[in-house]
Amino acid sequence: MFDIYTIGADELRVKASPIETFDEELAATTETMLATMMWGKGIGLAGPQVGIGKRLFVVQLESGKPFVFINPEIVATSPDLAEFEEGCLSIPGAYADLTRPATVRIQAYNVRGRRFNLEAEGLLARVIQHELDHLDGVLFTDRLPERIRDRVLKQYEKRMRA
Ligand code: NI
Repeated sequence: MFDIYTIGADELRVKASPIETFDEELAATTETMLATMMWGKGIGLAGPQVGIGKRLFVVQLESGKPFVFINPEIVATSPDLAEFEEGCLSIPGAYADLTRPATVRIQAYNVRGRRFNLEAEGLLARVIQHELDHLDGVLFTDRLPERIRDRVLKQYEKRMRA
């Protein structure tokens, strides 16, 4: 299991670098990330959250199959927007509604280095955008209006003291 870094850690603010080698070690890393995510009851986890400054993240929605995204890029977003409540394993206890594009088309590589394209909508589209932000050192709270961000970060601090 990996330790999950929480807001304030420098690890969460790096711009992650591309994966260049698709090997057994990478496969093992993604398995451990999935286990760490499930242990934390999360639905997505990005490399920087566990101190890996590489462009990869894992996603598993309830009752769905696990996804591994390596060197992901959003190639298109819908003009229509959707509002979802977001949370983050790196900011436990903090939740807020956030508006983002409703649908995204993503290109990425799987753990064996095979490129794939995926058109995602609903919750999956949301998790993908949230996790991709992590690869650029961005947390969902950065995208909130200041007043709401302050309130949400207070929720987190309260959780940390409990
Ligand atoms: Ni997150």
